[in-house]
Amino acid sequence: MNIILLGPPGAGKGTQAARLQATRGMIQMSTGDMLREARASGSPIGLKVKAVMDAGELVSDAIVTALIGERLDSSGGHGAIFDGFPRTRPQAEALDILLSERGRTLDHVIELVVDEDELVRRITGRFSCARCGAGYHDTFRPTKVAGTCDACGSTEFIRRPDDNEQTVRTRMSEYRAKTQPILPYYQERGLVRQVDGMAGIDEVAAQIDAALDGTSR
Ligand code: AP5
Ligand code: MG
Ligand code: ZN
Repeated sequence: MNIILLGPPGAGKGTQAARLQATRGMIQMSTGDMLREARASGSPIGLKVKAVMDAGELVSDAIVTALIGERLDSSGGHGAIFDGFPRTRPQAEALDILLSERGRTLDHVIELVVDEDELVRRITGRFSCARCGAGYHDTFRPTKVAGTCDACGSTEFIRRPDDNEQTVRTRMSEYRAKTQPILPYYQERGLVRQVDGMAGIDEVAAQIDAALDGTSR
Protein backbone atom coordinates (compact mmCIF):
# COMPACT_ATOMS: atom_id res chain seq x y z
CA MET A 1 0.00 0.00 0.00
CA ASN A 2 1.25 3.51 -0.88
CA ILE A 3 -0.32 6.51 0.84
CA ILE A 4 0.08 10.28 1.12
CA LEU A 5 -0.35 12.14 4.40
CA LEU A 6 -1.45 15.62 3.40
CA GLY A 7 -1.86 18.53 5.79
CA PRO A 8 -0.42 21.89 6.86
CA PRO A 9 2.69 22.33 9.03
CA GLY A 10 2.11 20.79 12.46
CA ALA A 11 -0.91 18.75 11.33
CA GLY A 12 0.71 15.57 12.64
CA LYS A 13 2.06 14.05 9.40
CA GLY A 14 5.42 13.07 10.88
CA THR A 15 3.88 11.76 14.12
CA GLN A 16 1.46 9.50 12.25
CA ALA A 17 3.93 8.45 9.54
CA ALA A 18 6.40 7.25 12.18
CA ARG A 19 3.64 5.26 13.87
CA LEU A 20 2.50 3.68 10.60
CA GLN A 21 6.08 2.76 9.80
CA ALA A 22 6.42 1.05 13.20
CA THR A 23 3.09 -0.79 13.06
CA ARG A 24 2.69 -1.69 9.37
CA GLY A 25 6.17 -2.21 8.02
CA MET A 26 5.70 0.64 5.58
CA ILE A 27 8.45 3.20 4.95
CA GLN A 28 8.11 6.87 5.94
CA MET A 29 9.32 9.10 3.13
CA SER A 30 9.51 12.62 4.53
CA THR A 31 11.07 15.14 2.16
CA GLY A 32 11.44 17.53 5.12
CA ASP A 33 13.53 14.93 7.00
CA MET A 34 15.57 14.14 3.87
CA LEU A 35 16.32 17.82 3.32
CA ARG A 36 17.30 18.27 6.99
CA GLU A 37 19.63 15.26 6.66
CA ALA A 38 21.16 16.82 3.55
CA ARG A 39 21.75 20.03 5.51
CA ALA A 40 23.30 18.23 8.45
CA SER A 41 25.69 16.37 6.16
CA GLY A 42 26.74 19.60 4.42
CA SER A 43 26.03 18.08 0.96
CA PRO A 44 25.65 20.39 -2.07
CA ILE A 45 21.85 19.95 -1.93
CA GLY A 46 21.89 20.78 1.78
CA LEU A 47 23.77 24.02 1.19
CA LYS A 48 21.41 24.97 -1.61
CA VAL A 49 18.18 24.51 0.35
CA LYS A 50 19.18 26.01 3.71
CA ALA A 51 18.03 29.60 3.14
CA VAL A 52 14.79 28.53 1.44
CA MET A 53 13.83 26.21 4.31
CA ASP A 54 14.73 28.74 6.98
CA ALA A 55 12.41 31.24 5.29
CA GLY A 56 9.58 28.65 5.26
CA GLU A 57 9.37 28.60 1.47
CA LEU A 58 9.24 25.57 -0.80
CA VAL A 59 12.36 23.91 -2.19
CA SER A 60 12.37 23.29 -5.97
CA ASP A 61 10.21 20.49 -7.37
CA ALA A 62 13.24 18.94 -9.10
CA ILE A 63 15.20 18.50 -5.87
CA VAL A 64 12.43 16.89 -3.82
CA THR A 65 11.24 14.70 -6.68
CA ALA A 66 14.77 13.35 -7.15
CA LEU A 67 15.01 12.61 -3.41
CA ILE A 68 11.74 10.65 -3.49
CA GLY A 69 12.82 8.69 -6.57
CA GLU A 70 16.03 7.60 -4.81
CA ARG A 71 14.14 6.63 -1.67
CA LEU A 72 11.63 4.55 -3.66
CA ASP A 73 14.51 2.70 -5.29
CA SER A 74 16.07 1.85 -1.94
CA SER A 75 12.79 0.90 -0.23
CA GLY A 76 12.83 -2.74 -1.30
CA GLY A 77 9.22 -2.70 -2.46
CA HIS A 78 7.80 -1.90 0.98
CA GLY A 79 4.72 0.34 0.99
CA ALA A 80 5.43 4.06 1.15
CA ILE A 81 4.03 6.74 3.45
CA PHE A 82 4.65 10.06 1.72
CA ASP A 83 4.98 12.72 4.44
CA GLY A 84 5.17 16.31 3.21
CA PHE A 85 5.33 15.25 -0.44
CA PRO A 86 3.83 16.09 -2.89
CA ARG A 87 3.36 19.79 -2.12
CA THR A 88 2.70 21.20 -5.60
CA ARG A 89 0.82 20.07 -8.68
CA PRO A 90 4.06 19.29 -10.60
CA GLN A 91 5.21 17.14 -7.65
CA ALA A 92 1.87 15.29 -7.66
CA GLU A 93 2.22 14.56 -11.37
CA ALA A 94 5.86 13.53 -10.93
CA LEU A 95 4.86 11.11 -8.15
CA ASP A 96 2.36 9.39 -10.44
CA ILE A 97 5.14 8.84 -12.97
CA LEU A 98 7.65 7.65 -10.34
CA LEU A 99 5.12 5.12 -9.05
CA SER A 100 3.94 3.86 -12.43
CA GLU A 101 7.54 3.42 -13.63
CA ARG A 102 7.95 1.04 -10.70
CA GLY A 103 4.64 -0.77 -11.25
CA ARG A 104 3.15 0.80 -8.12
CA THR A 105 -0.05 2.72 -7.48
CA LEU A 106 -1.34 5.22 -4.97
CA ASP A 107 -3.98 3.79 -2.64
CA HIS A 108 -5.07 6.61 -0.32
CA VAL A 109 -4.54 10.29 0.34
CA ILE A 110 -5.18 11.04 4.02
CA GLU A 111 -6.07 14.71 4.55
CA LEU A 112 -5.41 15.84 8.13
CA VAL A 113 -7.89 18.64 8.78
CA VAL A 114 -6.80 21.10 11.51
CA ASP A 115 -7.22 24.72 12.59
CA GLU A 116 -4.38 27.21 12.28
CA ASP A 117 -4.12 28.54 15.83
CA GLU A 118 -3.71 25.02 17.11
CA LEU A 119 -0.92 24.50 14.58
CA VAL A 120 1.16 27.37 15.91
CA ARG A 121 0.83 25.90 19.45
CA ARG A 122 1.89 22.50 18.21
CA ILE A 123 4.87 23.71 16.26
CA THR A 124 6.28 26.09 18.82
CA GLY A 125 6.20 23.29 21.46
CA ARG A 126 7.81 20.64 19.29
CA PHE A 127 11.20 19.05 19.96
CA SER A 128 12.88 15.80 19.03
CA CYS A 129 15.59 13.47 20.27
CA ALA A 130 19.01 14.44 18.94
CA ARG A 131 20.11 10.80 18.81
CA CYS A 132 17.14 8.77 17.50
CA GLY A 133 14.82 11.46 16.13
CA ALA A 134 11.76 10.51 18.24
CA GLY A 135 9.29 13.42 18.21
CA TYR A 136 7.80 15.12 21.28
CA HIS A 137 5.82 18.16 22.38
CA ASP A 138 6.21 20.25 25.55
CA THR A 139 2.50 19.88 26.37
CA PHE A 140 0.88 17.33 24.04
CA ARG A 141 3.56 14.64 24.06
CA PRO A 142 6.14 15.12 26.81
CA THR A 143 8.80 12.51 27.52
CA LYS A 144 7.77 10.08 30.28
CA VAL A 145 10.82 11.03 32.36
CA ALA A 146 11.62 14.74 32.06
CA GLY A 147 14.73 15.31 29.95
CA THR A 148 15.14 11.66 28.83
CA CYS A 149 14.09 10.19 25.47
CA ASP A 150 11.48 7.41 25.89
CA ALA A 151 12.86 5.54 22.91
CA CYS A 152 16.64 5.58 23.43
CA GLY A 153 17.42 7.19 26.80
CA SER A 154 19.35 10.11 25.31
CA THR A 155 19.26 13.40 27.21
CA GLU A 156 19.95 15.63 24.18
CA PHE A 157 17.11 17.21 22.25
CA ILE A 158 16.82 19.59 19.30
CA ARG A 159 14.33 22.14 18.00
CA ARG A 160 13.96 22.97 14.30
CA PRO A 161 15.23 26.39 13.16
CA ASP A 162 12.04 26.93 11.12
CA ASP A 163 9.77 26.34 14.14
CA ASN A 164 9.26 29.98 15.07
CA GLU A 165 5.97 31.80 14.72
CA GLN A 166 6.95 34.00 11.78
CA THR A 167 8.30 31.15 9.65
CA VAL A 168 5.31 29.00 10.56
CA ARG A 169 3.01 31.69 9.10
CA THR A 170 4.98 31.61 5.82
CA ARG A 171 4.84 27.80 5.77
CA MET A 172 1.07 27.97 6.25
CA SER A 173 0.58 30.44 3.44
CA GLU A 174 2.73 28.26 1.17
CA TYR A 175 0.46 25.35 2.10
CA ARG A 176 -2.71 27.30 1.28
CA ALA A 177 -1.34 28.69 -1.98
CA LYS A 178 0.46 25.67 -3.43
CA THR A 179 -0.41 22.45 -1.62
CA GLN A 180 -4.11 22.65 -0.78
CA PRO A 181 -4.92 23.20 -4.50
CA ILE A 182 -3.66 19.68 -5.31
CA LEU A 183 -6.52 18.07 -3.35
CA PRO A 184 -8.95 18.11 -6.32
CA TYR A 185 -6.35 16.21 -8.37
CA TYR A 186 -6.83 13.31 -5.94
CA GLN A 187 -10.52 13.91 -5.15
CA GLU A 188 -11.35 13.34 -8.82
CA ARG A 189 -9.84 9.89 -8.46
CA GLY A 190 -11.74 9.17 -5.24
CA LEU A 191 -8.55 8.76 -3.20
CA VAL A 192 -9.02 11.38 -0.46
CA ARG A 193 -10.01 10.35 3.10
CA GLN A 194 -10.50 13.18 5.59
CA VAL A 195 -9.32 12.69 9.15
CA ASP A 196 -9.94 15.04 12.09
CA GLY A 197 -6.41 16.15 12.87
CA MET A 198 -7.63 18.18 15.87
CA ALA A 199 -8.30 15.01 17.85
CA GLY A 200 -5.70 13.52 20.18
CA ILE A 201 -2.77 11.58 18.70
CA ASP A 202 -4.31 8.14 19.43
CA GLU A 203 -7.72 9.12 18.05
CA VAL A 204 -6.13 10.46 14.85
CA ALA A 205 -4.24 7.17 14.59
CA ALA A 206 -7.47 5.19 14.96
CA GLN A 207 -9.18 7.26 12.26
CA ILE A 208 -6.26 6.74 9.87
CA ASP A 209 -6.26 2.99 10.52
CA ALA A 210 -10.00 2.86 9.83
CA ALA A 211 -9.52 4.78 6.57
CA LEU A 212 -6.69 2.50 5.42
CA ASP A 213 -8.52 -0.67 6.37
CA GLY A 214 -11.76 0.49 4.74
CA THR A 215 -13.68 0.31 8.00
CA SER A 216 -14.47 4.02 8.35
CA ARG A 217 -18.08 5.11 7.98
P1 AP5 B 1 8.41 19.52 6.68
O1 AP5 B 1 9.48 18.96 7.51
O2 AP5 B 1 7.58 18.62 5.87
O3 AP5 B 1 7.50 20.46 7.58
P2 AP5 B 1 5.93 20.82 7.54
O4 AP5 B 1 5.14 20.38 6.39
O5 AP5 B 1 5.91 22.26 7.84
O6 AP5 B 1 5.32 19.92 8.62
P3 AP5 B 1 5.85 19.67 10.04
O7 AP5 B 1 6.94 18.64 10.00
O8 AP5 B 1 6.13 20.98 10.69
O9 AP5 B 1 4.56 19.10 10.74
P4 AP5 B 1 3.96 17.63 10.83
O10 AP5 B 1 2.66 17.62 10.09
O11 AP5 B 1 4.96 16.59 10.48
O12 AP5 B 1 3.62 17.59 12.39
P5 AP5 B 1 4.25 16.72 13.58
O13 AP5 B 1 3.81 15.31 13.46
O14 AP5 B 1 5.69 16.99 13.74
O15 AP5 B 1 9.06 20.60 5.68
C1 AP5 B 1 9.98 21.57 6.15
C2 AP5 B 1 10.47 22.42 5.01
O16 AP5 B 1 11.17 21.60 4.05
C3 AP5 B 1 9.39 23.13 4.19
O17 AP5 B 1 9.01 24.34 4.78
C4 AP5 B 1 10.11 23.30 2.85
O18 AP5 B 1 11.04 24.37 2.90
C5 AP5 B 1 10.90 22.01 2.72
N1 AP5 B 1 10.15 20.93 2.04
C6 AP5 B 1 9.81 19.72 2.58
N2 AP5 B 1 9.14 18.97 1.69
C7 AP5 B 1 9.05 19.71 0.56
C8 AP5 B 1 8.44 19.48 -0.70
N3 AP5 B 1 7.79 18.33 -1.00
N4 AP5 B 1 8.53 20.47 -1.64
C9 AP5 B 1 9.19 21.61 -1.39
N5 AP5 B 1 9.77 21.90 -0.20
C10 AP5 B 1 9.70 20.96 0.77
O19 AP5 B 1 3.46 17.37 14.83
C11 AP5 B 1 3.75 18.68 15.29
C12 AP5 B 1 3.78 18.71 16.83
O20 AP5 B 1 2.46 18.48 17.34
C13 AP5 B 1 4.66 17.64 17.47
O21 AP5 B 1 5.30 18.21 18.59
C14 AP5 B 1 3.68 16.53 17.88
O22 AP5 B 1 4.13 15.85 19.03
C15 AP5 B 1 2.40 17.31 18.15
N6 AP5 B 1 1.20 16.58 17.71
C16 AP5 B 1 1.06 15.78 16.59
N7 AP5 B 1 -0.21 15.32 16.48
C17 AP5 B 1 -0.89 15.85 17.55
C18 AP5 B 1 -2.26 15.75 17.99
N8 AP5 B 1 -3.16 15.00 17.32
N9 AP5 B 1 -2.60 16.43 19.11
C19 AP5 B 1 -1.68 17.18 19.81
N10 AP5 B 1 -0.37 17.30 19.43
C20 AP5 B 1 0.00 16.66 18.32
MG1 MG C 1 6.96 16.63 9.77
ZN1 ZN D 1 15.95 9.04 21.35
